[in-house]
Amino acid sequence: MIDFTTTDADVQKAAKILQNGGLIAFPTETVYGLGADATQESAVKAIYDAKGRPSFNPLIAHFGDPDVVKTFVEISDQAQKLMDAFWPGALTLVLPMKPDIKIAQSVTAGLPTLAVRMPDNPVALSLLRFAATPIAAPSANPSGQISPTTADHVRAGLSEKIDGLIDGGPCAIGLESTILVLEPKPTILRPGGVTRQQISDILRRPVAFADDATPLQAPGQMISHYAPKASVRLGVTKPKPDEVYLGFGPMECDVNLSPNGVLTEAAETLFAALHHLDGLGKPIAVAPIPNTGVGRAINDRLKRAAAPRN
Ligand code: TXA
Ligand code: MG
Repeated sequence: MIDFTTTDADVQKAAKILQNGGLIAFPTETVYGLGADATQESAVKAIYDAKGRPSFNPLIAHFGDPDVVKTFVEISDQAQKLMDAFWPGALTLVLPMKPDIKIAQSVTAGLPTLAVRMPDNPVALSLLRFAATPIAAPSANPSGQISPTTADHVRAGLSEKIDGLIDGGPCAIGLESTILVLEPKPTILRPGGVTRQQISDILRRPVAFADDATPLQAPGQMISHYAPKASVRLGVTKPKPDEVYLGFGPMECDVNLSPNGVLTEAAETLFAALHHLDGLGKPIAVAPIPNTGVGRAINDRLKRAAAPRN
């Protein structure tokens, strides 16, 4: 694996590797992505192999230019409003594909829709421009494990399996994008960096959450996910003596997601805290976290981290 810096010269070399069908891990504002040229079937297949990802779990296609997105998917008025409001940024839209577009079939796992997003990170955007192709990119971690918010997290999980890694420092948001489908009604398939309230303010209509029981869910939303090696217990106010305690707000604990109880700060530090605590080899107890705003996404990830493993 080649280590790249964020200089134009390095990002250009990384883009060349993508064009030649290779795998490049790169920073976004949410989490690190594991990228491949979304138009090359064998390159996209290599993502599934490197991650050990089930083939029925489709990928997000990343774009550097909203005008190019329009050549791949049908953009309704509502979708356009959301793109204007949140792109570049942590909102992924699941939209109907146009006929006969050049996209590898394994990006969509055979679905008639394509998940599209324009990331808000200068390095990701320059990689997209140099590569001049949409980049299919899941989070850059082995399937089912904790998502990466630093280059070191990527290195620890995937260094043997990928061609290059661009180190752009820690991710600003720290949680994956919100995934939204608009038809038949606006529904959040995965809570993330953009909140339900923000979306519904722009659309001027209610927005639903697909819970685990609805068939509308994103195919990859397995119950056990983001799993540390240690067991995880949630909503804990009194940790047991053998547990390490992950706190939120003013309290005594081993690691605090946000001593002042700020949810965006907790989102930013969540995965790094889980990576760190997991290294200590003890069961993890987690303090209650309010289920409002981005707290919804934090609790979604924690619930999956705590779920029984397959
Ligand atoms: O913030 C993010 O979204 C990060 C960065 C790298 O952009 N990417 C990411 O990708 O989280 P991944 O593969 O870990 O999660 C993508 C999710 C999966 O749960 C998948 O099922 C869903 O997106 N998805 C992709 N295409 C879909 C589609 N056509 N319909 C419904 N869900 C889809
Ligand atoms: Mg992921």
